[in-house]
Amino acid sequence: MTHLAAASSLREASYPDIASEHARLASLIEIIETKLREDNANYLIVADHIRELMQLAREHFEHEEVIMEREQYSQKDYHIQNHQHLLRSLADYVALCEKGVLNIEADAGKNIRGWFSFHTRTVDEEFREWLANKGPHGH
Ligand SMILES: [Fe+2]
Ligand SMILES: [Fe+2]
Repeated sequence: MTHLAAASSLREASYPDIASEHARLASLIEIIETKLREDNANYLIVADHIRELMQLAREHFEHEEVIMEREQYSQKDYHIQNHQHLLRSLADYVALCEKGVLNIEADAGKNIRGWFSFHTRTVDEEFREWLANKGPHGH
């Protein structure tokens, strides 16, 4: 298990499906970072990996959003906007990779990791705490 994934699972031990999805996303981000660090990084391959990350992220976000809807989470709209923004950022990275824009190399790995860890540490964490405080009997 990667460092990033381990940190996620420790924090989210009571939140098993979401935590394992975060771990999968973290692993894929590590693969993308490795590809980006390689000499002669093949940007079309990187674009494929980012597309795969987008697909996983989309499924994960839908999963969270179903729980938010079911639990009538008070910050649902804000959280969903955040998800949409994150998916748009990934789509921008895919477009840059497909154009072979090389200056993505310096920042993309860091930015994609930041994209993931900032979201999980802030809005996902707030949601997890809200759910934990709500308890099984609600409100
Ligand atoms: Fe999440
Ligand atoms: Fe989220």
